[in-house]
Amino acid sequence: MELSNRLLEIAKFVPKNSKVLDVGTDHGYIPVYLVQNSISSEVIASDISPASLQKTIDYVDSLRLNDRIFPRLGNGLDIIKPNEVDTVIIAGMGGILISEILDRNEELCKTIETFILQPMGASKELRQYLIENSFTIVDEGLAKEGRRFYEIIVAKKGESKQLEDIYLDIGYKLIEKNHPLLREFINRRIEDVEEIIAKFGVPKTCKARARYKELKNLVKSYKEVERELEGNQHYRGNGEMGTQ
Ligand SMILES: C[S@@+](CC[C@H](N)C(=O)[O-])C[C@H]1O[C@@H](n2cnc3c(N)ncnc32)[C@H](O)[C@@H]1O
Repeated sequence: MELSNRLLEIAKFVPKNSKVLDVGTDHGYIPVYLVQNSISSEVIASDISPASLQKTIDYVDSLRLNDRIFPRLGNGLDIIKPNEVDTVIIAGMGGILISEILDRNEELCKTIETFILQPMGASKELRQYLIENSFTIVDEGLAKEGRRFYEIIVAKKGESKQLEDIYLDIGYKLIEKNHPLLREFINRRIEDVEEIIAKFGVPKTCKARARYKELKNLVKSYKEVERELEGNQHYRGNGEMGTQ
């Protein structure tokens, strides 16, 4: 079974020999890949939906991996005990739902080494949640399938400073490592926002004018990041507020 670009990119961030929980595993593809490629010797594969978990159970049974992949039914991190795993993957869900799953088990999160989070939307809100709740973003990834981009955020427990707004939107670690897909990703963001601006016409109300200005400024910020990449220099310091 060939893993999609998105799932492969997620798997790249899993530390070798780690004990993993894949929250919302659905089909169970990530756990199977991790054990078949000797990245993890054992994986807990969980889902809140019995029907989704059944897909994993059937897949794991068909491959006779029952001694290495352990399906569990339940909500988020409720189904593990402290120190049972050191890496948690939460992928393919909205950023707000991911933050709710982390928030639900705040104490347990302190016992986990690495969080690999792949939001399908609201990545900005997820980064803000992480900063406000004593997580630190240690790495970021990008994957592309067809026209669609996927962001991957790797976090650990630890204090971090507030990031500038633009780096909540475009992960700073992507800029830092000059990710090969980053230019294309930013261009797409610019195209999307410019499309909204084009539909605006002449803004008439105060609210519309404010929104118009906000969108124009967003395009400006994206273009500044592009220039930052061209120069390959971090004129914005380390992305944290007050370090320019
Ligand atoms: C779109 S699938 C993503 C599957 C896989 N993680 C991936 O990235 O391809 C989302 C899965 O998350 C599960 N899910 C949603 N909320 C959950 C929660 N609070 N705890 C555990 N699983 C959850 C859903 O039942 C569904 O199977």
